[in-house]
Amino acid sequence: FSEPVSVDPVDLEMVMRTCMEKDDLHRFIRPIIGYGAIFAPVSIWRPRRKILQPAFKPKIVEIFVPVFAEQSMKLSCKLSETGGRKVKLLPYIGAYTLDSTCETTLGVKINAQDDAVSPFLVELGRVLQVATERIFRLWLQPEWLFRCSPQYRQQRAGCEVLHGFTDHVIMKKREELKAKQSKSPESDRPIDLSDYDSKSFLELLIHFSGSAGGYSNEELREEILTLIIGSTDSTASTIGYALDLLAKYPHVQDKVHEELDEVFGDSDRLLQKEDLMRLKYLDRVIKETLRLFPPAPFLIRKVEEEITLPSGRVLPAGSGIVASVWGTQRNPKYWGPDADAFDPDRFLPERAALRHPCAFMAFSIGPRNCIGYQYALMSIKSALSSVLRFHRVKGRVERGNTPHIRVKIDVMMKAVNGHELTLERRSQRRAPKDLQIVK
Ligand code: HEM
Repeated sequence: FSEPVSVDPVDLEMVMRTCMEKDDLHRFIRPIIGYGAIFAPVSIWRPRRKILQPAFKPKIVEIFVPVFAEQSMKLSCKLSETGGRKVKLLPYIGAYTLDSTCETTLGVKINAQDDAVSPFLVELGRVLQVATERIFRLWLQPEWLFRCSPQYRQQRAGCEVLHGFTDHVIMKKREELKAKQSKSPESDRPIDLSDYDSKSFLELLIHFSGSAGGYSNEELREEILTLIIGSTDSTASTIGYALDLLAKYPHVQDKVHEELDEVFGDSDRLLQKEDLMRLKYLDRVIKETLRLFPPAPFLIRKVEEEITLPSGRVLPAGSGIVASVWGTQRNPKYWGPDADAFDPDRFLPERAALRHPCAFMAFSIGPRNCIGYQYALMSIKSALSSVLRFHRVKGRVERGNTPHIRVKIDVMMKAVNGHELTLERRSQRRAPKDLQIVK
């Protein structure tokens, strides 16, 4: 990077609270998501964030728990079918996150877990691959040169499928809402959270943006695709890293199993929202996973007006700064001399209270932080609990306290081997495939 890199949470807190504008590299993802909130310039981002915010209130997000529960039990069934063979887990997990994200954002089941060649799944992977290639292959960066490349044609074809599908769902939803409203004009009133049942972010965004006079179909598409892209790979990678770490540290996995047995006993019921609160050790495992292997390992911000950081470092106007999430979350000054070691108990409330609150920044910090972090934690917890209730995950046991997983940057930071691991049935448990899963 030509920009300075910081690993100091005190400095970074100031940067992330004052510099809202993002880096130009994000232009490569613009053909897919346009000006969706995540990478939009501040003037567009600010009003869109305001509209998005109420849709992510905990009371609304927890309405999606039954979707996570059902889709994650399906994931557990699919993994049972691998019959104890060593497999790359990431494609299975990615299909789970895409299924649950599409169901919660669009309100439709796309069944990616049943169909590895689901056009949405295939094209989403392809367009993200092209965006990554453009970041790392300089010759693909000038627009005129890119337009002569095969990647450009792939991107166009991919966007046609993704946009076509999303536009179709948006149109259907508009028609449905219009029909509902003509039957009962009352239905356009502000949403009452207490009678809100399993709707989707799409419906919420239509309401919160002002219903018929609010977002255009294009704006809705941009916001929905942003949520799908922001959610799918980041959540899937975290689930993969957590399973990898549990395979490396069987004594930690034993503790997770103990807690799951306490909460679920021998029952094969689906997870409920009350269970999430009780899975406290699993919660610490997830946070420690995100600390050591953050899916977004660095964040880039533009500096519009000169600022002097608490360390005395001056960032001139017009410069940029890289916030190293990876470096900050392994900084021995804040995490101790064993900062690289895997120790979920760092997140015990009494130990966390002693730390600088921004030493953990996997979901970023400040006004432009991850709006979906509670949603992500619920989805990850649901997936891990459903898989580990029925299985033991096995791989190479790590000898020391520092886990080693080879990673690569592919929009998100991903494991090079796609989390090649084995899932063995826990002997005393029923197979999840015995369960009735509604497709
Ligand atoms: C483990 C999972 C996740 C991680 C680690 C993660 C991480 C992040 C980070 C680091 C940012 C800030 C990016 C930057 O400043 O450049 C961000 C932004 C964002 N994330 Fe997440 N995310 C996760 C899951 C989700 C989910 C599940 C959703 C939606 C359902 C989501 C939606 C968003 C959105 C919309 C933004 C942009 C916020 C804004 O600019 O106002 N993320 N995420």
